[in-house]
Amino acid sequence: MNHSILKKIRNKLSNREEQNSLRSLRDNSSLVDFCSNDYLGFANSLPVKQSKQQGATGSRLISGNSNQFESLEQKIANFHNADSGLIFNSGYDANIGLFSCIADKGDTIIYDQYIHASIRDGIRLSNARSFSFEHNNLLSLEKKLEQADGHILVAIESVYSMDGDLAPLEEIIEVCEKHKAHVILDEAHATGVIGKKGLGLAQELGVASKLFARVHTFGKAMGCHGAIILGSKDLKSYLVNFARSFIYTTALSEHSLNSIESAYEKLNNAEEIIRQLHQNITLFQSLLSKNLQSKLIPSSSPIQCLLVSGNDHVKKVESELQTKGFDIRAILHPTVPKGKERLRVCIHSFNTPEELKTCVSQLEKLIV
Ligand SMILES: Cc1ncc(COP(=O)(O)O)c(C=O)c1O
Repeated sequence: MNHSILKKIRNKLSNREEQNSLRSLRDNSSLVDFCSNDYLGFANSLPVKQSKQQGATGSRLISGNSNQFESLEQKIANFHNADSGLIFNSGYDANIGLFSCIADKGDTIIYDQYIHASIRDGIRLSNARSFSFEHNNLLSLEKKLEQADGHILVAIESVYSMDGDLAPLEEIIEVCEKHKAHVILDEAHATGVIGKKGLGLAQELGVASKLFARVHTFGKAMGCHGAIILGSKDLKSYLVNFARSFIYTTALSEHSLNSIESAYEKLNNAEEIIRQLHQNITLFQSLLSKNLQSKLIPSSSPIQCLLVSGNDHVKKVESELQTKGFDIRAILHPTVPKGKERLRVCIHSFNTPEELKTCVSQLEKLIV
């Protein structure tokens, strides 16, 4: 047997170890949650139906489709003020499927430099040319738009997952309209969080109809699995025919669809929970000293990041916070640029004022 491949993977793991950036799986479920995407606490409160439920049987195009799928897609599309929607097994699958098939050779995809890995991977599978523009920078976007050919698609997020800041959506749409470019908005961290009833940034700003497509994921505030791509009826039909991550995979089971349906029912009545979430975000920020505020990446979302430079340093702070009972995760280089390592504090509606106060006092002691 040729062992060189084993040697190669060991070397790559050793490199990660040397950079103190080796990832491993852990279970911190006993700690106070300041790291999950379960912003509204739905993950612990979706009803479980006791009756027998249909399991997974095949892909949507073979045996996996059902009336429930189609009516749920239309219900969610109506809720988000869209013509049509197509459910994928995850946000990762939705973005891979969409970006790999939407543009062809001769077309151009332009994306924010901080875009999520699932969109980057989708773009890598596409035959289109692609460029990134500087994060949230309209001048940089415009420069890239001037170099673009063919059909032009621009990929952005409502809330950026590693910084927590929002895209200047209206301004981006304006620049894109000038260059006849189509905007695709990933609303993963805005779903359930931003705007009235947590409908997302596009609906909050009243610009949903100006977007080519929106991606809402169910694995964050909705507390379950899956995602939906919203857009025109033709876009849905196109994805059913060309999005490989939709075609070549087993469809979600009835249980998953029931969870998504329950989560949307809960969201329809969650104004108080969403208000509590935003109150907690404001409380967290107001508790920070001037020193910590100077390290905070400006954000009005539940993702609050404190810059703590260096993998060794930020990992040490993370581990001390965990011994004190707080599950706050360090974001390391190479996930973020060197020197921009950070503690990513995720605020939830269910975090108590006491938890927030003790968490901040620990942060004050550990970050100097
Ligand atoms: C912006 C963004 N898009 C897509 C995804 C992927 O969603 P899912 O976890 O449902 O695969 C994530 C989650 O990590 C995300 O942060």
